[in-house]
Amino acid sequence: MAEDELMGERIPIASDHAGFELKEKLKATLAALGYDVEDLGTNSAASTDYPDYAHPLANAIASGAAKRGVLLCGTGLGMSYAANRHPHVRAAVAWLPEIAELARKHNDANVLVVPARFVSEQDSEHILKKFLDTPFEGGRHQPRVNKIELGDTP
Ligand code: RB5
Repeated sequence: MAEDELMGERIPIASDHAGFELKEKLKATLAALGYDVEDLGTNSAASTDYPDYAHPLANAIASGAAKRGVLLCGTGLGMSYAANRHPHVRAAVAWLPEIAELARKHNDANVLVVPARFVSEQDSEHILKKFLDTPFEGGRHQPRVNKIELGDTP
């Protein structure tokens, strides 16, 4: 078997300083689940700018280099604003497992954004697992998702 077939799905993850500590925890969770975690920074709790991390991760999704990714900042908002400027990126801020689940089922979210200052470590693990394990429902949701991309609206 080829080496890449033995590896889990590659999942890029990135945060700013506000999400750094939780990113380190979720990296361990992802690795324990068998994913091939790619840490795009930041690498410390020193103050930094969230777009510098959101854009490289969103580029990885938009280019097809990765199917799904995880971002963290204080509220989740700044990371989502930056990531959602990229074509085909649907970055969902989820502060409850149920929101992560619906973001997958209805919106086919491909980036999970965790508001690190507003969720516990335990809750963030539940949110992450829902994001990873919930399939997109398709059906009536597919044309709605298609209409998110500019140019696909009537
Ligand atoms: C950093 O203080 C904070 O502004 C940032 O993590 C994020 O919440 C921005 O949206």
